[in-house]
Amino acid sequence: MVKSSPLSYLDSDLCFDNLKIAEIIKNNPTPFYLYSEKSIKESYQHFSQAASILPQTTICYAMKANGQLEILKLLARAGSGADIVSGNELRRALEAGIPASKIVFSGVGKTKEEIDYALSQDIYSFNVESLEELEMINRLAKEKNQTARVSFRLNPKVMAKTHKHIATGDKIHKFGLLEQDILESLNQDIYYSHTKLVGLSIHIGSQLTELEATKKALKALCECALKIPHILEFLDVGGGLGINYEKDSATIDINEYMTLIQRELDPYYQKNPQLNIVFEPGRILIARAGCFVTSIIRNKKTEGVNFMIVDGGMNDFMRPSLYNAYHEIFPSIDLSEKISTDVVGPVCESTDIFAHERMLPLLKPGQFIAIADTGAYGFVLASNYNLRVKPCQILIQEDKSILRLSKEEYSQNL
Ligand code: LLP
Repeated sequence: MVKSSPLSYLDSDLCFDNLKIAEIIKNNPTPFYLYSEKSIKESYQHFSQAASILPQTTICYAMKANGQLEILKLLARAGSGADIVSGNELRRALEAGIPASKIVFSGVGKTKEEIDYALSQDIYSFNVESLEELEMINRLAKEKNQTARVSFRLNPKVMAKTHKHIATGDKIHKFGLLEQDILESLNQDIYYSHTKLVGLSIHIGSQLTELEATKKALKALCECALKIPHILEFLDVGGGLGINYEKDSATIDINEYMTLIQRELDPYYQKNPQLNIVFEPGRILIARAGCFVTSIIRNKKTEGVNFMIVDGGMNDFMRPSLYNAYHEIFPSIDLSEKISTDVVGPVCESTDIFAHERMLPLLKPGQFIAIADTGAYGFVLASNYNLRVKPCQILIQEDKSILRLSKEEYSQNL
């Protein structure tokens, strides 16, 4: 991942990828998301370079983080696969040119239609989350006279240190199967007459900033793999690497992460030296590469509280309302005189707030702010709440040309 945001000041103008945002606003009404092609490519290269200490790897970008077609296309060109969680994500990944042989399908609620569709495309693996699901995959594959490639998502019973809404690796969570259930299923025809168990996966949570829980989960993954009598082709270590949204806060060192994987999975490498390691990174590839630009509508003051009311709301960018998440805010002009202010949107909820008591210059109506690190889990969580129109998305290409991304269409039937 790139270390710093593409946001910076040139003279006193706020720029993204060295382009003046004020110029972009002239032709594009706020609020909107801006993405940097350069930053996405750099993050992908950085990740794949770090992963190259392992003999064989497949990077399956977790496209739930940002499923924009043009972004997927550029990741596909860089060599990425995809971790998908719905039929529409599969359709989008294929449209972007990601080969089915690099697609893994996660999620506890895959429907019959989605499984049928994925079977017809011959994906790399279904990451199965229950025996009931495996039974369905087996039955549908049998009807098609096919053999489906499957892997189990192991629930390693570890509680990752992160926001409780995005921890997924303990037995109270709906995700994955316990080791004993995986082992008991082996050799039963209702599960395996038309499936082939080719791997095991884990994903213990998102926005992880330390490796302790990951280490335990990798151990559990390796132990479970060793108990399966036949040789597995791959182990999927999931996603979850966090970024430091707040300057100077802790993050995981990517090289340390790769070394940990190498070390913890070493017993399985003894069994299969050709083992493929699958990664499902989302946030770390894309969060830094985006910002959310929103203009000041007006300022308001009550007893002791300043409000900066902006034209973007929680329906456009949800992370602060959903997870109380902190994001840096860059004012359009960086004056030295600052006041403490709450940055709020127009939506009729008190949780429609981007920042609480933030020190910012007193901006005037028409001036704007950019909320940093919103490339991941930004637009994808947007809604039409209050009948608001979802924000536009703009990609700054490597040659600095501006690509206004077409409106998303998520409602297609399979
Ligand atoms: N693999 C699986 C099976 C996942 O469920 C996820 C994320 C990932 C990979 C990618 O995780 P990442 O590398 O991005 O941490 N909306 C929340 C994050 C939800 C994550 C859901 N699963 C947020 O804004 O923080």
